Amino acid sequence: MHDLDKWIIDKGVSRKSIANDLKISEATLSRYLSGERIPKPEIMNKIVNFTDGQIKPESFYFFKKEEQSFFKSNFSNKNLLGIDGLNEKEITSLLDRSEHFSRLNENIFNHPKKYNNRTLINLFFEDSTRTKTSFELAAKRLGMNVINMQIETSSIRKGESLIDTAMTLNAMHPDILVIRHSLSGAPYLLADKVNCGVINAGDGQHEHPTQALLDALVIRRRKGKIKGLNVAICGDIAHSRVARSNIKLLSTMGAQVNLIAPKNLMPSGIESLGAKIYNTMKTGLQNVDIVMILRLQHERMQGSFIPSPREYFRFYGLDRDKLAYAKNNALVMHPGPINRGVEIDSELADDIDRTLILEQVELGVAIRMSVIEHLINNKN
Ligand code: NCD
Repeated sequence: MHDLDKWIIDKGVSRKSIANDLKISEATLSRYLSGERIPKPEIMNKIVNFTDGQIKPESFYFFKKEEQSFFKSNFSNKNLLGIDGLNEKEITSLLDRSEHFSRLNENIFNHPKKYNNRTLINLFFEDSTRTKTSFELAAKRLGMNVINMQIETSSIRKGESLIDTAMTLNAMHPDILVIRHSLSGAPYLLADKVNCGVINAGDGQHEHPTQALLDALVIRRRKGKIKGLNVAICGDIAHSRVARSNIKLLSTMGAQVNLIAPKNLMPSGIESLGAKIYNTMKTGLQNVDIVMILRLQHERMQGSFIPSPREYFRFYGLDRDKLAYAKNNALVMHPGPINRGVEIDSELADDIDRTLILEQVELGVAIRMSVIEHLINNKN
């Protein structure tokens, strides 16, 4: 039974009067309660307000997917190389399916070990904690075998090219290859040469699609929608693949994106992706619902871009004073790893009422389960 149904019974009111209050038909309300349909954001907000927050937007997503035995998806690609080229329906399918996995992830006994004859290879040419672990956990929860390539001890150290490594791995018939590489475009090159599904886990400063998807999932849950929101992305935009994937995804889903960075960390021409450009936190954070903070990505910088970390924090580090320029209920996100006292104030980073960093990590696993499942099914 849906939480809202229980609430209706508890309060001793009728479905009819609730439907009237929501200005919908009783039949539509029944569809929400049976999981057949998800309420539109305006109606969802009304339900949340009128139950004093007791019914949360996620109850509708969870319920819908839990009840569904067959999930019809609009995402039919064999690889996930970037957000570029994906439309709203494809993105929504990947997000909706993640809600199902997120629900299952709450209980270890629910893990759907449905792909126990399948293999995923993690090929990380750059450092990673959360993304690599997240892909490994996602695959294992789907029952897959996971191989983590040790680049330091592999033939790559003997001068083998990326393509030759990929062809060698491909000959062993994995189902999914997850690649992170410092060169923009490396996953595209690879996808051209192998039969298995390829997932881009970050290529240089180009794209990081699963990060943008998990960010979107967190936003949709917390705000009940993406369309119409104002999202600011602040910091080292120039070297950030997270920023590029997020700008594309958020614009496609109908959000307005503000980019905030010092001039030398703002890439020229980036406004062509549909974002507005600001050079101060005060101007860029006005009326913003979500503030995404980026790390200074020194590993991709040639030379020094900031006078000192202290100076950077003074002007661009997010603290409570700067956050006050945004909406009162604005929430803070960061893809991690965070550098405390450089791009974000340490105390603010730990405030779970304002900051969603750990929720991003948690939902990252569900997003990756959804992407992996889609690629396996699409290849079939
Ligand atoms: C990001 C990345 O690697 O691009 N991190 C991540 O995937 N969680 C951002 C960063 O390294 O700053």
